[in-house]
Amino acid sequence: MSSPNTSWSPASWRTRPVQQMPDYSDQARLSHVEQQLSRFPPLVFAGEARRLQKSLADVAAGKAFLLQGGDCAESFAEFSAETIRDSLRLLLQMAVILTFGASYPVVKVGRLAGQFAKPRSADMERQTGQELPSYRGDIINGLEFDSALRQPDPQRMVNAYAQSSATLNLLRAFAQGGYADLHQVHRWTLDFVSATPQAERYRALADRLTETLAFMKACGLTSDTIPQLRETELFTSHEALLLPYEQALTRIDSTSGDWYDCSAHMLWIGDRTRDLDGAHIEFARGIHNPLGLKCGPSMTPDTLLPLIDALNPHNTPGRLTLIIRMGAGQVAEGLPALIRAVQREGRTVVWSCDPMHGNTVKSASGYKTRPFERILQEVREFFAVHAAEGSYAGGIHVEMTGQNVTECTGGVQAITDERLADRYHTHCDPRLNASQGLELAFLLAEELKRGQAVGGEGHG
Ligand code: PEP
Ligand code: CO
Repeated sequence: MSSPNTSWSPASWRTRPVQQMPDYSDQARLSHVEQQLSRFPPLVFAGEARRLQKSLADVAAGKAFLLQGGDCAESFAEFSAETIRDSLRLLLQMAVILTFGASYPVVKVGRLAGQFAKPRSADMERQTGQELPSYRGDIINGLEFDSALRQPDPQRMVNAYAQSSATLNLLRAFAQGGYADLHQVHRWTLDFVSATPQAERYRALADRLTETLAFMKACGLTSDTIPQLRETELFTSHEALLLPYEQALTRIDSTSGDWYDCSAHMLWIGDRTRDLDGAHIEFARGIHNPLGLKCGPSMTPDTLLPLIDALNPHNTPGRLTLIIRMGAGQVAEGLPALIRAVQREGRTVVWSCDPMHGNTVKSASGYKTRPFERILQEVREFFAVHAAEGSYAGGIHVEMTGQNVTECTGGVQAITDERLADRYHTHCDPRLNASQGLELAFLLAEELKRGQAVGGEGHG
């Protein structure tokens, strides 16, 4: 039983049943890599993770909104400055739209610089008579259906660390170096608005933002005078799935004396690895980073409350984000009981909506896809349930890319089943493309405005 009183160490997960972990055939090589990684510098700093937790506490209190998004699985092959820049651009655009819509600060957390490991529904994959280990993300094995490449290779963890480090380096430069300037981000959005067939829907909000920026300029509030207009703060996150890697990057913070997993600012536990007595919850409970917990349709109050006890025993605001992914049509059934249990027990959490993972379907042409309409529907249901329960819908968690892919059907570009083949590049799940991401942000901005009109200032 996970009890906050049993002793924890970065390795204590090893005594627990572990799911979704690769079978490394060469244990000596694995421990060599683990030792190597444990000597590498941290990718993020504890102080940054604490800052994120503070911002998430504002979200929990109804005073900010969480935007978490990025790749389903980062890939070694698609690693380039352009891919990183385009994902960041989309995240920034969505954040500006949401900030304006909600009149709240938006906490930006990327699913990037470390989002490599994937849980799979089957351990093995069969193709034309041959059976090989399933692909589990580039940090573990290769995507190609090839027996050598599908063997889990510990050396891939070193590659993933290097790619995460270079990604972070570029993100930090973009965030501070003028790329994130509010005026520039808004110009990109205006380009999108004028190019889309649904321009009228977005024009009003975009025009109001243009006017606001002009007003601020007239008051002398420009990028030259206000650093906040040209800089931004961006955090990183990924699923804490591959525990040997996470353990190797877990360090004691010299300021607080606490353990932090320095592979990312925020880590989350997936819907398939959230067993109370399992290795992943054991690992997560001891690190002091802000945590996410995915909650799918099988989550009940009886399962959730002990998990909250284990992960956030002191009820620290901002420590725990519940990422709800029920699927369109199932939110009204699964979510109210969770909200009521959390409210009844006086727990403070961030409620975030992942409208992606409950809405994956197979297209007629055989592609794994997600209809954009269902994604929007789940978001609307999430907001409606929170409004009805008097709680605060505080965040969104999406898989998206700045690349012009065709992986989710629908949206203003009206991507059809037949067009999925055009640019279907994902290594795992179908992602929103830039246009779909912006559409979603506009919808969210409307929902947030409506929530404020109904609920007034702040939510407890
Ligand atoms: C994911 O976020 O990529 C994922 C696998 O989600 P879940 O654990 O919710 O299925
Ligand atoms: Co995914």
